[in-house]
Amino acid sequence: MKKLVIGNWKMNPSTLDEAKKIIKKTRRIAGRLQHTEVIACPPLVFVFAVISKRDPNTLKIGAQTVSYEEDGPHTGEVSAVMLSDIGVKYVIAGHSEERKNGDTDKIVSRRVKAIVDSGMRAVVCVGEEMRDEGGKYLEILKDQIRNSLAGIPQSRAKNIILAYEPVWAIGAKEAMRPDQIYEMSIFVKKIFSDIFSQDQAMKVVVLYGGSVNFRNAVDIIKTGKVDGLLVGRESVNLPGFIELLKAVDGVK
Ligand code: PGA
Repeated sequence: MKKLVIGNWKMNPSTLDEAKKIIKKTRRIAGRLQHTEVIACPPLVFVFAVISKRDPNTLKIGAQTVSYEEDGPHTGEVSAVMLSDIGVKYVIAGHSEERKNGDTDKIVSRRVKAIVDSGMRAVVCVGEEMRDEGGKYLEILKDQIRNSLAGIPQSRAKNIILAYEPVWAIGAKEAMRPDQIYEMSIFVKKIFSDIFSQDQAMKVVVLYGGSVNFRNAVDIIKTGKVDGLLVGRESVNLPGFIELLKAVDGVK
């Protein structure tokens, strides 16, 4: 299976020109990779402009969020059907920065439902805010995953990608230790298995996110044994991102 690297650009860059430049360079390198699939998630306002009509698959374009409403009087919102219609294949849901802005697990689950019902893949972000000696954070994480995926039918499980992102490692100096990432990837798969099935859990793609860069990416994939990465800052930092993609592609 190919490794998956998703770039979450967050609210960067400031102009369409810059966005197009990053896309062009990322697409060029993505086209040369053999074992890695790359998705870029720019700010919504740039998404339509950077989806290639000629070559939509070399670099797929994703969105950072979506409305859970279908249509109608929801000022400022964009629906999953609209995103799917313009060629978006992946949408992030439940990012900790969105959760901080008021997204509860219930809201996240509604967004996830809207995404998978439109035939796209939902990149569902989960992760503990902090750790405690007694391991309570594992219970909290378990509840967060269960509630964020509540109401998603078994038949849609294949449209879900789990992005494990410990909140304390996002935008931080250092990523989580790869051996800890390995433990946590097993933990989140086990929960996925309890919600859906063992078979689905064997197939689910698990990403790690939180301060990934070109220096630590290989060890996270190798020792952390995750299927890919959700990359923030480094995804808009060329040439760091190019180095990262090359390095990940070289992992056997
Ligand atoms: P970071 O962000 O790589 O800048 O830590 C990761 C994320 O928020 O997904």
